[in-house]
Amino acid sequence: MSKKVLVVYYTQSGQLLDIVKSVTASPEKDQGVEIIYEELRPKPPFPFPWKSDEFFQAFPESVQGIPCELEPLKVSGRNDFDLIIIAWQPWYLSPSIPVHAFFQSPAAKGLLSGKPVITVTGSRNMWVMGQQKIKEYIMENGSRLAGNIVLFDRAPNLLSVVSIMRWMFTGKKDRYLGIIPPAGVSQADINGAARFGPLISDALLSGKWDKLQDKLVAAGAVDVKPGLVMIEKRGRAIFNIWARFILKKGPYGSKARAKRLQAFKYYLLAVIYLISPFASIIYMLAKPFRTRAIQKQKTLYQSL
Ligand SMILES: Cc1cc2nc3c(=O)[nH]c(=O)nc-3n(C[C@H](O)[C@H](O)[C@H](O)COP(=O)(O)O)c2cc1C
Repeated sequence: MSKKVLVVYYTQSGQLLDIVKSVTASPEKDQGVEIIYEELRPKPPFPFPWKSDEFFQAFPESVQGIPCELEPLKVSGRNDFDLIIIAWQPWYLSPSIPVHAFFQSPAAKGLLSGKPVITVTGSRNMWVMGQQKIKEYIMENGSRLAGNIVLFDRAPNLLSVVSIMRWMFTGKKDRYLGIIPPAGVSQADINGAARFGPLISDALLSGKWDKLQDKLVAAGAVDVKPGLVMIEKRGRAIFNIWARFILKKGPYGSKARAKRLQAFKYYLLAVIYLISPFASIIYMLAKPFRTRAIQKQKTLYQSL
């Protein structure tokens, strides 16, 4: 019997589509498997490369899950898929605005209800808090998470902040000034994601989803970095406060909130470059005494 897979994705640079295509390369060759790709298209589109003001403008809505408008989905009204793959990226430790918009749409409920879902993430390196929100959305839409694949930039945290800013603001992602590594998920990691495809095929063709995540984790699909999770957890709580504070001044694009957005921008830069290095040093010093707690965190965020 033939199997139909829907891939829902949003991408600005094309990176996330490259990742998901690598994952689906093998299932796509399976006999009787049909894969349909549905791109989320915000109306109007978000800019890429971004200007600084536009980049920070997207902060409160990302954090509070306030959706943008989307062009209608091409597959709207269909619900005959055997698997939905959702490829999403974090914006400000939360799902990106177009991804929030998809999950909150009536079309999502129709597509997702009763269906197994696999999530695929392509991020700088902080995806854990966003994935918690994605899990909520999946439950609210009546579907069940069957697998999770996470790709991220493996460069040191403080260097990848520089490379991603350059990438986001200029579109350039090559090596920079000799020491800043290329931005984004490495091509080797993108190509390597093809190894998850046969595991997905097995589950899809047999209809048995229960063991998929264990197999994906064993194949290295979810590498949790507890030091970064610690930063994310604190950041998420503070981002919520900032987002509410900015939203009090007005909705997306309103002039009245410009000053508060500017203040947030300086706050964020200070946290990244002044506070987070100290937090990382303290984490490294405490690490030998916290091995059990760290292992527990890894297992927690590797599971569904
Ligand atoms: C506004 C904005 C905020 C971002 N925030 C995060 C973040 O919190 N954590 C993270 O790991 N990456 C973050 N990124 C990087 C994205 O998750 C993603 O990797 C990058 O934008 C490339 O994705 P693309 O496929 O849409 O081009 C952010 C990107 C943008 C544009």
